[in-house]
Amino acid sequence: MKIKSAEFVMSNSNVTKAPKDNIPEYAFIGRSNVGKSSLINMLMERKDLAKTSSKPGKTQLINHFKINDSWFLVDLPGYGYAQISKKKRTIFQYFIENYFKERKQLVCTFVLIDSRHDPQKIDLEFMRFLGENQIPFCIVFTKADKLGSSKLNKQITSYKKKLLNHWESLPQSFVTSSSSKLGREEFLDFITAINEDVADDFK
Ligand code: GTP
Ligand code: MG
Repeated sequence: MKIKSAEFVMSNSNVTKAPKDNIPEYAFIGRSNVGKSSLINMLMERKDLAKTSSKPGKTQLINHFKINDSWFLVDLPGYGYAQISKKKRTIFQYFIENYFKERKQLVCTFVLIDSRHDPQKIDLEFMRFLGENQIPFCIVFTKADKLGSSKLNKQITSYKKKLLNHWESLPQSFVTSSSSKLGREEFLDFITAINEDVADDFK
């Protein structure tokens, strides 16, 4: 897919105020600092479309980006950031859950996992939440550049094996690096295929 346009539409904390356009939507979720905003920038080949930071907790709202005038990418706040106040965490949790439960245009969610990490409780719980609400998702391994290729393969194989202790089958997964652009083509091809698949539902 060629990216002809990528524009920021709006930020908000209430899914009922999100853009009304009836077009396919893809959401990026995962722990704080896992690389959600960076991945969006890498896919769109735009440096500062989504705001990034080396400190966790940068993205704090639901951010809609309209791509090629025909589909949305959504950058969400990360979960699992310990430094955040309990009150704020509860608010985040509430509007993120609401987003997933209410957003009719959502066709696929990307759950981002740092390639270097073993399965963590909070990610497994989030995937379970998606499963229980019948929200289709893929797993995206991020920061692949931080591991050598043999260690990377080993880590991903082991991650998937451990996931099979919780799930009967594995979701589709991608291995990416926002610094080396690894996985970009495959990722965009996947979105193109889904956009074609769901086109009739969005007429
Ligand atoms: P929150 O908005 O806080 O939830 O974080 P986020 O998941 O959006 O992470 P963000 O994209 O802001 O990236 C966090 C940090 O990781 C930044 O310092 C990025 O430069 C770095 N980072 C993200 N992706 C990669 C990657 O693929 N490789 C490397 N080496 N660093 C990355
Ligand atoms: Mg972010």
